Amino acid sequence: MSTRSRLLAELKKKTGSYVSGELLSSILDISRSAVSKHISVLKQSGYTIEASPKVGYCLIKSTDQLLPDEIRDGLETTIIGRGEIHHFSNIDSTNNKAKELAASGLPDGSLIIAEKQTAGRGRKGRSWFSAEGSGISMSLVIRPEISPGEISRITLLTAVAAAEAIIALTPVKPEIKWPNDILVNGKKLAGILTEMTMEMDAIDYVVIGIGLNVNTPPDAFANEIRSIATSLYAETDTAWSRVDIVKAFLAHFERLYLSVLQAGFSDIIRRWKDLSNLIGKSVRVDVSGKLLTGTVSDIAEDGVLILCDDTGTEHRILSGDVLL
Ligand code: BTN
Repeated sequence: MSTRSRLLAELKKKTGSYVSGELLSSILDISRSAVSKHISVLKQSGYTIEASPKVGYCLIKSTDQLLPDEIRDGLETTIIGRGEIHHFSNIDSTNNKAKELAASGLPDGSLIIAEKQTAGRGRKGRSWFSAEGSGISMSLVIRPEISPGEISRITLLTAVAAAEAIIALTPVKPEIKWPNDILVNGKKLAGILTEMTMEMDAIDYVVIGIGLNVNTPPDAFANEIRSIATSLYAETDTAWSRVDIVKAFLAHFERLYLSVLQAGFSDIIRRWKDLSNLIGKSVRVDVSGKLLTGTVSDIAEDGVLILCDDTGTEHRILSGDVLL
């Protein structure tokens, strides 16, 4: 733990009360002026800290930024989020950064997180809009011992983890749209972009990018997506703690991930089906520009969508966009 993280932990233990500079300098074994410099940096990171020359420092309010110390504080996981956590105020894409760092050895369970992305990427070369400071843009790096053919399972697992975290913390009832969109009342709340790198025929690492609209006001969405995008704030008129949502997601992800490694994938598929409400629905599926129409008869264990068209022919679709 860095000195600044330890200083923050000391202030948090006494949130709302003053801790003397003298005590902090002795606990942390640094000078009073070093304490004061760390306090300035914490204030710049959004912590509200009152300083009184005679009595010391008092943490009034934690930051709303998705800082590593905030994410680690009370995180109930052992692997996921337990590698390195890198936070950026501004970055092109957390997936790009995650891939760059993973290629040079970033450990399993690491997280790249940003307040703002300037070139967030979606599936199929689309762009992903992320409003500054009001959404969650993060990429998780894992190094699972599964075959490359099983990768779509990780995407389904991620969608279930995100939906279940939202259900656990908010009154919102999300639905999953195959393969990995999270919708609320037909509008997109979150998207997932899974990318993997292989060496020989084994997975080296998987980057799971998640974009989730948390406190974005409806009119802050870009014009072209305003009618199809939503946020937790837009659905509930309430501002939500982004840090709590990240922690809940990581905890749900880990629980599902460990259960897959131990007991296989059938439980995830069952939960995915419950949350997707797709089986038996008439849909159109855009498969690389070709439209297929039919009824969804199942989602296979490997994540393939099984569509039965009007002639009774069964189509197994590995990648596409469902149009409801
Ligand atoms: C989609 O719905 O098409 C997927 C959107 C994924 C967006 C996230 S935001 C964090 C991560 N970084 C990116 O550039 N993309 C993903």
